[in-house]
Amino acid sequence: MNETVLVTGATGTTGSALVELLLEHDVAVRAMVRSDAAAARFAGTAVTPVVADLDDPAAVASALAGVDRAYLVTPSSERAQVQQERFAELAAEAGVAHLVKLSQLAADEGSPVRFLRYHAAVERRIRELGIAATFLRPNLFLQGMLAMAGPIREGRLFAPIGDARVSAVDVRDIAAVAAAVLTGTGHEGATYTITGPAAYTHAEIAAVLGEATGRPVTFVDVPPAAFAEQLRGVLPDWQVEGLLEDYAHYARGEAAAVLPTVRDVTGREPRTAAEFARDHKAAFTPG
Ligand SMILES: NC(=O)c1ccc[n+]([C@@H]2O[C@H](COP(=O)([O-])OP(=O)(O)OC[C@H]3O[C@@H](n4cnc5c(N)ncnc54)[C@H](OP(=O)(O)O)[C@@H]3O)[C@@H](O)[C@H]2O)c1
Repeated sequence: MNETVLVTGATGTTGSALVELLLEHDVAVRAMVRSDAAAARFAGTAVTPVVADLDDPAAVASALAGVDRAYLVTPSSERAQVQQERFAELAAEAGVAHLVKLSQLAADEGSPVRFLRYHAAVERRIRELGIAATFLRPNLFLQGMLAMAGPIREGRLFAPIGDARVSAVDVRDIAAVAAAVLTGTGHEGATYTITGPAAYTHAEIAAVLGEATGRPVTFVDVPPAAFAEQLRGVLPDWQVEGLLEDYAHYARGEAAAVLPTVRDVTGREPRTAAEFARDHKAAFTPG
């Protein structure tokens, strides 16, 4: 019988890309979503949607019934650690054979970055549970540029990062690693740090966005406080503070290593920032 793979965050950045890729494999794909309206997006596909909120343990337990492998992702909110640890506990109770958790590059319980601390704590809890698991630790998502598409369309890319290099990665390559792990063997117990094929400055990312759209984009190194000001009101304060910590970590040059994980796990080279920019040029081009 085909294995059943549950994808949490199936409407999100990595989860939606993963669902697409899993459909190319001989597995039953179950997509966890939060509403009937979100479930409707899978009508007419081979995906079976299941409605469950991570804060509703009974619904999550039902979503996990009969699942062989699961992909776990939540947004980085104040509740992420609790939500993820409980999901892992319910997965272990449900007899899930393999849990794939989306973590983050340099996850560490002693990190000054709150996101890296909670990811490491969840990884530790999953190890304690004894469930077979794989931890995916990607670097900065290139797709994060889409959240800044407004200023980029006006020719500016703002970030508090100076000339530090970051081996930012295309989410499609993270999803490809996740799909390979969820449909393959031999990945249990592994921790995969996932990077793009090169480490870029934000000035270089701005340049490739400009080349793709045919309009110059200039990188502007903003002070952290000004960056935070732009985000307040858009994101909860906890997340704004977390993003500042994240960018300080990038600015210290701690996310510049380039690793061969995408090639090693999927057999394909990761996409470059220029490929990302070309594939998303419509979003960065003024209407
Ligand atoms: N952004 C980066 O550069 C970066 C880099 C490395 C690691 N990461 C890690 O990536 C993770 C975020 O991944 P992502 O970008 O794929 O996530 P995302 O796009 O923010 O998607 C989050 C998903 O979780 C769902 N969700 C939110 N709250 C839920 C709840 N209470 N119950 C059930 N589902 C819920 C959302 O559903 P709705 O559609 O209903 O809201 C959505 O499908 C974070 O852990 C972050 O640390 C990010």
